[in-house]
Amino acid sequence: MRRARPAAPGLDRATFEALGARALDFIADHLDQIDARPVNRPLPRDLRQQLLEQALPEAGEDPAAILDFLGTTVMPWPMGNGHPRFYAWVNSPPAPLAILADAMAMTVNPSSDGAEHAGRFLLKSVTRWLAELIGYPTEGAMGLLVGGGTMANLTALGVARYAAAQRAGWDVRAKGLQGGAPPLVFYASDEAHSCIRKSIEMLGIGTDNLRLVPAGDDYRASVPAIARAIAEDRAAGRLPACVIGNAGTVNTGAIDPLDALADLAAAEGLWFHVDGAYGAFGRLDPSVAALYAGLERADSVALDPHKWLHVPIECGAVLVRDAEMQRATYSLVPPYLDAAKAPDPDNPRWTIEYAFTLTSQMRALKVFAVLRHMGRRGVAAMIASHNALARDLAQRIGARNDMEVMAPVTISAVGFRYRPPGVTDEAAIEALNARIVQALNDEGEVFILTTRLKGRLAIRACIMHHDNDANDMAHLIARVAHWGRTLAD
Ligand SMILES: Cc1ncc(COP(=O)(O)O)c(C=O)c1O
Repeated sequence: MRRARPAAPGLDRATFEALGARALDFIADHLDQIDARPVNRPLPRDLRQQLLEQALPEAGEDPAAILDFLGTTVMPWPMGNGHPRFYAWVNSPPAPLAILADAMAMTVNPSSDGAEHAGRFLLKSVTRWLAELIGYPTEGAMGLLVGGGTMANLTALGVARYAAAQRAGWDVRAKGLQGGAPPLVFYASDEAHSCIRKSIEMLGIGTDNLRLVPAGDDYRASVPAIARAIAEDRAAGRLPACVIGNAGTVNTGAIDPLDALADLAAAEGLWFHVDGAYGAFGRLDPSVAALYAGLERADSVALDPHKWLHVPIECGAVLVRDAEMQRATYSLVPPYLDAAKAPDPDNPRWTIEYAFTLTSQMRALKVFAVLRHMGRRGVAAMIASHNALARDLAQRIGARNDMEVMAPVTISAVGFRYRPPGVTDEAAIEALNARIVQALNDEGEVFILTTRLKGRLAIRACIMHHDNDANDMAHLIARVAHWGRTLAD
């Protein structure tokens, strides 16, 4: 029944619509004007203090004033990743349609862990689409949307741990890692993302049992080196459990030799996991698609729609080839949840049977909105254009005598540095590049960061905005050259 004057936090329809129009104004202004603003600005000290020291309100306040505070005091100080000249980390702008779809999801507000609601059925299609986009098998497989790439990797590696223990004859859910069995060992290149190490720590494997084998000069995993590490561990009585490949490393976008890693894992009877959080959707670009051969052979894949697909944060995805293994790893259904299950054979099993978390946001709607809006062709064209721009940027850098590309360019990440002609002092080059990046970010025309490539400081540009074009690349080079010249003098 509709109530004429709902109690807070409820709102009557007229008020809700008026507030909605106000919020939408802030949202539309932000999206419309972001290009004209500095990419990133440091928050003034007094604003930081104001935000840090907000007092808990004793009495409820005027909703319009609350939205105004958010629109005028918080929204003007974003991280910058909606701006086309934001090249840091692996962050895309939010697709506007997904912002609206997400509001719709929050309005209905079910939990995606289970129960009878449309979003849970749509989730099945959306995760199947993600698998189809990267050429991953769907039959008998399971797809979940999770908070991000870290959670996707952790979820998958949890299944890998369960499967390895099961193969060795023990139930890790019952015994944990305390049953006196030999240590399970996981393998990846030293270019694997830090979340792999965190996952290994969380899973109780311990980093002493994570072999981060040095990648080759091309930043790709060395299969012979991983094979040697496996042999050494076997000889020492340890239990090799899982090989982890990268489909796009965070530093350089390198794609490991996935087919060869799959061969190795198969020959050794190990789980094969691929971290595709950054780069797996790159398979849609014909110019690099062949490098992904073997991705479809992975036992599990971590994806991150909130990276290249422009789905607003948070949205990761995990795909596991053997849904039953995933269910064996995670299913724990207490009576109060079991009783609510619909006795319908067409009703897919509840998501909680495959996940660590219980209540989870209906992320499917925002992914659905983006993929319906762009279509497979639209996503492929955008990804191919980003990769082409990265090659273009690398070419422009390579043609200069004051800059150098620091690693092969595969997908949309370019590692490079400014190096004045004739300067060979590594410490001086490093200090200069750190100052260039600081100056660039203070200036606010671009936002960019550094990483370390084979121990050397590199400026790292990740091209991930749907509106990026060749002018942006020329502009980036011009700003780096300007600050390089200015600061080198
Ligand atoms: C290759 C790779 N894996 C995992 C992650 C972690 O993803 P998230 O930040 O969504 O947890 C990242 C983040 O940049 C990444 O690039």
